[in-house]
Amino acid sequence: PPLHTLISSHDLEEVASRTISKKAWAFYSSAATDCITHRANCETFDRIWWRPRVLRNVQSACTKTRILGVESSVPFFCAPAAMARLVDGEGEKGIARACAKAGVLQCISTNASFPASEICASVPSHPFFFQLYVNKDRTQTDRLLKSLPSTIRAIFVTVDAPIAGKREADERVRADESLSTPMSGAKAKNDKKGGALGRIMGGYIDPGLCWEDMKWLRSITSLPIVVKGIMSVEDAVMCAEAGIDGIVISNHGGRNLDGAPPSLRTLLQLRLARPEIFRKMEVYLDGGIRRGTDVLKAVCLGATAVGIGRPILYALNYGEEGVSHFIEIIRDELEVAMKLVGITNLGQTSLECLDLGEVETG
Ligand code: FNR
Repeated sequence: PPLHTLISSHDLEEVASRTISKKAWAFYSSAATDCITHRANCETFDRIWWRPRVLRNVQSACTKTRILGVESSVPFFCAPAAMARLVDGEGEKGIARACAKAGVLQCISTNASFPASEICASVPSHPFFFQLYVNKDRTQTDRLLKSLPSTIRAIFVTVDAPIAGKREADERVRADESLSTPMSGAKAKNDKKGGALGRIMGGYIDPGLCWEDMKWLRSITSLPIVVKGIMSVEDAVMCAEAGIDGIVISNHGGRNLDGAPPSLRTLLQLRLARPEIFRKMEVYLDGGIRRGTDVLKAVCLGATAVGIGRPILYALNYGEEGVSHFIEIIRDELEVAMKLVGITNLGQTSLECLDLGEVETG
């Protein structure tokens, strides 16, 4: 169907489910075992109500913010996702062009289909973030960080994937052995368990990574460090104490540990138990963001911004234009939500915009 007839992230997902390759759909859409966390990531947003205020002059609303000091037209960014080329030949470069046009930040994955230098070069001078998987061979990681282009403004080190989860839909579809990721050197090679790309291409990731290594990471880069994959209040506090610049509350889109708490629940627990943490470092969330209202709820709970994963890949089914279209859908939904809640800039977001009556926070 023509792109302009698709008016929500759900529309783009539905079309992707029947038009992209079987392997791309299996890899992108899959989550761990019974997909409980993946579903809950989305559904938890539905249990928080608004507490809208009226008569507040909402003629115009501004969605601009700063993420680690970098300007962003919206409080959301492209979450790092492996192998965007499975759905479109331009892959991450197409996403980059759409993001640059819209003033949106993209976090490039270590498992991207192109080297970061090529992705960044497709939109010279536009800022990016880089997601790091630490290699068992630390010299490789050191070399990778030193090779990054200067437009990379922060390192997001992913810590919720010491090993890949059991993604059954992805195991069932054989992997094409011509697939590879240039920055990690990984190649798709089916094994006895099947063809799940997260597992067979993530073999280089170091499961020995620990808190001590955060000091090593601090010593080899001068960029801000964000820890991605925080699932508990305790670990969020440890990050703040370790002088980490930011965290992404995330369970990898439900792709690793099934039963991990939905991201929004962890954010809410952190906000209620340790509000001071949000003044020490920036807090982001990803997992289950499908609507502008989802973005705004997370921001009201204290998130500086949120990451969006799968929907960007589904939008890329229509190339760069699809991603532009998707960004505009979410930006517009966000602006409408702000006005209807009774606020005109993100500085006015707070817990008072929300009715948490029905969410269980224990
Ligand atoms: C991911 N994610 C991910 N995260 C990461 O740190 N490095 C990576 O290489 C990848 N790769 C990846 C591939 C695909 C196909 C998906 C769907 C996800 C996780 C991603 O950054 C993010 O945490 C989730 O996608 C957020 O959930 P939603 O928005 O997909 O619900």
